[in-house]
Amino acid sequence: MATEKATAVACANIAFIKFWGKRDAELNLPANSSLSMNLEGLTTVTTVEFSPNYDDDLVILDGQEARGEARQRIVAHLDRVRAMAGRRARARVISENSFPVGAGLASSASGFAALSLAASRAAGLELSQRELSILARLGSGSACRSIPGGFSEWAVGTCSEDSFARQIAPPEHWDLRDVIAIVSRARKLVGSTEGHSLAPTSHLYQARVASVADRLAQARAALLKKDLAALGPLIEEDAVSMHAVMMTSRPPIYYWLPSTVRLIREVQDWRAGGLEVYFTLDAGPNVHLICQAADQTEVEKRLKDIEGVLEVIVSGPGPGAQVIEP
Ligand code: DP6
Repeated sequence: MATEKATAVACANIAFIKFWGKRDAELNLPANSSLSMNLEGLTTVTTVEFSPNYDDDLVILDGQEARGEARQRIVAHLDRVRAMAGRRARARVISENSFPVGAGLASSASGFAALSLAASRAAGLELSQRELSILARLGSGSACRSIPGGFSEWAVGTCSEDSFARQIAPPEHWDLRDVIAIVSRARKLVGSTEGHSLAPTSHLYQARVASVADRLAQARAALLKKDLAALGPLIEEDAVSMHAVMMTSRPPIYYWLPSTVRLIREVQDWRAGGLEVYFTLDAGPNVHLICQAADQTEVEKRLKDIEGVLEVIVSGPGPGAQVIEP
């Protein structure tokens, strides 16, 4: 086999209705469906090159050779692609994140989406968007939502073949903004994968899972109508419901910092004063402020005065994963 190389780019995404808890940890099948927006400009660019001349897989992440578990997770993904393509050649993977390294933002969604597209193309596979989303999901659950562009819904499904993300609206549907307030750049104490496995130990977990379908249907309808007054409270409720499960897991996981709570309170005050902005959080202390484009500057301005905000990153609806031609 000759050398085969491809490069792909994918965006991170922010979930409005979250994925927390897996019904199958091997296949990354979620306990519930989820809904998200790709984040423009928060990207991972990944090049994969298979060659019969390589003795082993080499993975370079943001200029550093990956080792241990981080490398193993990527090698396992390359193995999936090799199995699909019926190939054995080892690979070189070079991956760069556009967002500040260590800003506390998850890179596994953009990372596994870009890796899935680059590795499958380099191995000579032309996967459909559905197949790519399934492949990305096997690497990291939320990565399946970074394959389609704009706003996506990941269906809980019944098995591996029907649990993937579909676009529900393109990026140009609605110019929502995610104004991200970074309050910590520290690596999280409990990674998402471990957190998912603890979720069922919370007495709130079953109640949360049972409540998602309804909330998601309402959120989807609000999103399609571009109704932020309807969507916003659902986004907040879902994020808090997820964090309530985290905080009541055994052992509990507290991702919030004092500045996280301060920001949540500020958002409520700002809204009471007429600024239409809502919060959400992933598995970490940083706060994502969701607002319309017209309010972005005001939200950014107010964040500058809040104690504990280290950095503000602004994003809007981003495209789907794409191959970058050489
Ligand atoms: C809190 O997709 O990172 O961001 O499948 O174990 O890699 P793994 O988990 P991951 O979990 C994301 C959790 C979340 C919520 C969400 O994005 O839906």
